[in-house]
Amino acid sequence: MSKVKRIGVLTGGGDCPGLNAVLRALVKTAAYGHGISVVGFLDGFSGLIRDRTLRLEPDRVSGILPRGGTILGSSNKDNPFRVPAVTDGVKGFEDRSDDAMRVFAAYGLDLLVVVGGDGSLTIAHQLAGKGMPILGIPKTIDNDLAATDLTFGFDTALTTATEALDKLHTTAASHHRVQVLEVMGRYAGWIALQAGLAGGGDVILIPEIPFTIDSVVEAVKERAFRGRTFTLIVIAEGARAQGGERFVSRVVEDSTDSVRLGGAGYWLSAELEKRLDREVRGTVLGHLQRGGSPTPFDRILATRYGVHAANCAAQGVRQVMVALKGMEITTAPLAEAVAQLRLVDPESQIVRAARAVGTRFGDE
Ligand code: F6P
Repeated sequence: MSKVKRIGVLTGGGDCPGLNAVLRALVKTAAYGHGISVVGFLDGFSGLIRDRTLRLEPDRVSGILPRGGTILGSSNKDNPFRVPAVTDGVKGFEDRSDDAMRVFAAYGLDLLVVVGGDGSLTIAHQLAGKGMPILGIPKTIDNDLAATDLTFGFDTALTTATEALDKLHTTAASHHRVQVLEVMGRYAGWIALQAGLAGGGDVILIPEIPFTIDSVVEAVKERAFRGRTFTLIVIAEGARAQGGERFVSRVVEDSTDSVRLGGAGYWLSAELEKRLDREVRGTVLGHLQRGGSPTPFDRILATRYGVHAANCAAQGVRQVMVALKGMEITTAPLAEAVAQLRLVDPESQIVRAARAVGTRFGDE
């Protein structure tokens, strides 16, 4: 039996399919394999600084494998180092990381497992710097975390986006329209690129390859010249025109990353309609990409991450993130995981494959 007796876990940042699968795998492996009990903190780091918990016994996590969301709740606010506070009537922020350290110690925890994307794992890395033993598990539909080949949640979002494209395809064809689909992904174009490839998008616009309107107009006209009476365009929320700014839909001051992207799809639709003699319609897929039951791929990946995290916890492995490298689950230093975002390489094989089948990226 391991010397480790009790660990904590929280799910931070935007939710994504597979969080419950991770919790189930972590709790069952910890209990059955190592005799370790697990305390869950509610609503991300909020539960850690405010001491709000849920005891996670194996029975509590039974039956949650296919459920979307997270039974612990999640939040992309309440960064312990920057918690909203009102002092003398003035709104500001305060550092409550010492509260986090105190609550962690009060439960007699040997380790905190943080299931999160780059925001939550950056906070976890800062807590590690204060001496808290941490294990990270990479989650996000954006698939933008360095040091792992894949995050869980991405495959489900990709499936949802591909299904949406398939549905728009038939309407585009029936009505001889240009249909624009805006998908999530923040500063990375993974969802747009891969959904565009899987769903036969004629034009794919991603943050990593700034586009020109002229090039997109040209792509539609060229298709018309070849007898194609419709065009399907996928645009990432973080995409921007050459020399232009990203589209920001709102600013959430107390969030880890306060900028919320959005608006690129409707803007593009309006600009195209001004220049083309056909109808252009925009659709924003939004949070539908974050919901629903995880795909089998995500259930399996999340389970493998949870199992590996429990085993690492028992063996005394600290300050790392579990990661997928090729076909194997391994670990990577937490510092490496949060050092930079993993973006699409415009020269990569996958982009070249898309170009080879005639997909346009708006930069030609
Ligand atoms: O990081 C996941 C994600 O869904 C991004 O793709 C998107 O930009 C952002 O979160 C949306 O956040 P919120 O749920 O706060 O609108």
